[in-house]
Amino acid sequence: MGILTATLACADWLHLGDDLRALERGGCDWYHLDIMDGHYVPNLCLNFDLIRAVRTASPLPVDCHLMVENPGDYLPQLTQNRVERAAFHLGCPVDTAALLREMRRAGIAPGLALNPDEPVEALSPYLDLCDWVLLMGVKPGFSGQAFLPGTVERVGRLAALRRTLGRPLLIEVDGGIGPENGRACTDAGADALVAGAFAVFSQPDGVEAACRRFRAAV
Ligand code: DX5
Ligand code: ZN
Repeated sequence: MGILTATLACADWLHLGDDLRALERGGCDWYHLDIMDGHYVPNLCLNFDLIRAVRTASPLPVDCHLMVENPGDYLPQLTQNRVERAAFHLGCPVDTAALLREMRRAGIAPGLALNPDEPVEALSPYLDLCDWVLLMGVKPGFSGQAFLPGTVERVGRLAALRRTLGRPLLIEVDGGIGPENGRACTDAGADALVAGAFAVFSQPDGVEAACRRFRAAV
C-alpha cells in the first residue's frame, strides 16, 4: 500500500501517548488531524493544543483536515505547529486559489477536500495549485460511518484527471476505510488512506496489531 495516516480523532484520548507509540510500531506513516468548527460540520474535534502535544511526542508528519468555514483563520496555527500538509473543503466561502497559494508560501503542502456529493471535476480549476486531494468516503463530521461505495469510482476519475496534469498529485481517501475498500481505493489510484475506527482503533487485538494487519491487507 501507500501511505497509512491514522486519524487521532478515533484514538483513546485517555491513553493517547500509548496509541501514538502503538501506531509508530505498527507502521503508521502520518497522523491525520481532524479540525472542526461546529459550523462547517455540526461537531467539534481536535484542536491545536493537542496538535502541539502530538508534535512534541512523535516525529511522524501530520496531515490536517480542516472542516471549518474560514480555513484562512487557521493558517498561523498551522504554521506555528509546523504542520506538513493541510486541506480545506472546496465548498468553503473563501478565495480558494488565493488560500492555496498562501498555504504554499507558508511552507504547508496545500490540499482540497471534496465531499461525496461534489463532482471531482469541480476540482479542475485548482488542481495546479494543489499538492494533494482529500476525497471523502463519508459525509464529513463524524467517524464510524459506512463507506460510500461510489467513492472508488470517484478515485478512478480523479486519477484520470491527474494524468492530464503532468505533475504529481497525492490522492488521499478519508472515512469508513477498512481493508477491502482500502484495497479497492489504492487499486483505483489512491496514494494514502485514512485509518480510523474500523481500520485500526476498534479492533480487539489492539492498535499496533490492527495497524500491521491493515498495512498487509491493502
Ligand atoms: C470524518 C473525518 C474522518 C474520520 C475517519 O469527518 O474526517 O477523518 O474521523 O474515521 P472513520 O474511518 O472511522 O470514518
Ligand atoms: Zn478527516
